[in-house]
Amino acid sequence: MSSVVTRRSVLQGGVAAGVGLALSGTIAQAAAAKSGNLPAITKPIPATGELLPVVGLGTNQYSVTAPEEIAARREVLDNFPKLGAKIIDTARGYGESEVVIGNLLKELGNRDQIFLATKTPIRGEPVGGDGELELALQRLQTDRIDLLQIHNFNGIEALWPKLQEWKQAKKVRYIGITTSSDDQYPQVLEALAKYKLDFLQVDYSIDNRGSEEKILPLAKEKGVAVLTNLPLGGRRGSVLTKVSGKPLPAWAADYDVTSWAQLFLKYNIAHPAVTAVIPGTTKIAHLKDNQLAGRGRLPDAAGRKKIEELWASI
Ligand SMILES: NC(=O)c1ccc[n+]([C@@H]2O[C@H](COP(=O)([O-])OP(=O)(O)OC[C@H]3O[C@@H](n4cnc5c(N)ncnc54)[C@H](OP(=O)(O)O)[C@@H]3O)[C@@H](O)[C@H]2O)c1
Repeated sequence: MSSVVTRRSVLQGGVAAGVGLALSGTIAQAAAAKSGNLPAITKPIPATGELLPVVGLGTNQYSVTAPEEIAARREVLDNFPKLGAKIIDTARGYGESEVVIGNLLKELGNRDQIFLATKTPIRGEPVGGDGELELALQRLQTDRIDLLQIHNFNGIEALWPKLQEWKQAKKVRYIGITTSSDDQYPQVLEALAKYKLDFLQVDYSIDNRGSEEKILPLAKEKGVAVLTNLPLGGRRGSVLTKVSGKPLPAWAADYDVTSWAQLFLKYNIAHPAVTAVIPGTTKIAHLKDNQLAGRGRLPDAAGRKKIEELWASI
């Protein structure tokens, strides 16, 4: 992983290669620890200027019941705000994810430290009645939702006026839409023009850049905050599989990057239209790794290009 970076720097210091290799893990850990002490990078929500840390959490794998699976998610949700993070994205469509999160945040007593985003029903239920909001509040055990998103356009015509009503009643702080499918990109462009969205959530990764052609620039122009889903490739196939076992390039250190996940998340975060990424994880080690992507130096336009060229060469 980061052995290329560390081995080279050790060799430049005149130390034998074998010793350099032995030290590389320690140096990578030291670099990660140093980054961990840096403040979390934040970006403003254009509608209000409220600042959000740029690395959140996706929870489409939080609908679990086994005690060891609940314990793993408790550990993630306990450490999440302690690491300076804020945005948790869930959905009514993710089985019992909302319920698991509601229970755990209540037990941990950290709901107020979280920017809680959920979604309206994705399928199977009629939409547009007050019951949907009430059910989400009940499942999440909260009196307000920070961001309520229409999931993949399901019932948008009926829902949009309700979302505005709920926002005025201060039960919901921000409203928006989501997609993760390029079939819906024409609808996203239409919605960006037609509705006053606070947030758009859309798929974007080093391996899936379709949204950067028209959607991300239009969102930026319209002053809409953007959360990017599937930043590590998600169920389409992890971008990490392709780089598994390969060393990070030495220049990754210029961006305070010590893992491939951090490199690809920083690529995403550094896009000028992106407000925050929401990588999904169920593991504390991955949470800590991903949070490091929200610290230290980010690539500029030339650095992002370099990451694209690297990806194309793998
Ligand atoms: N239309 C929509 O609204 C929509 C669609 C799709 C997704 N979403 C949202 O976006 C979130 C993110 O998408 P996703 O979770 O499907 O995909 P993702 O974030 O691209 O990837 C998640 C996968 O990467 C692994 N992972 C995470 N961090 C890692 C690390 N540092 N090192 C190695 N592996 C790592 C996770 O496994 P571990 O659990 O083992 O860490 C999981 O298998 C979802 O959870 C959901 O909240 C919304």
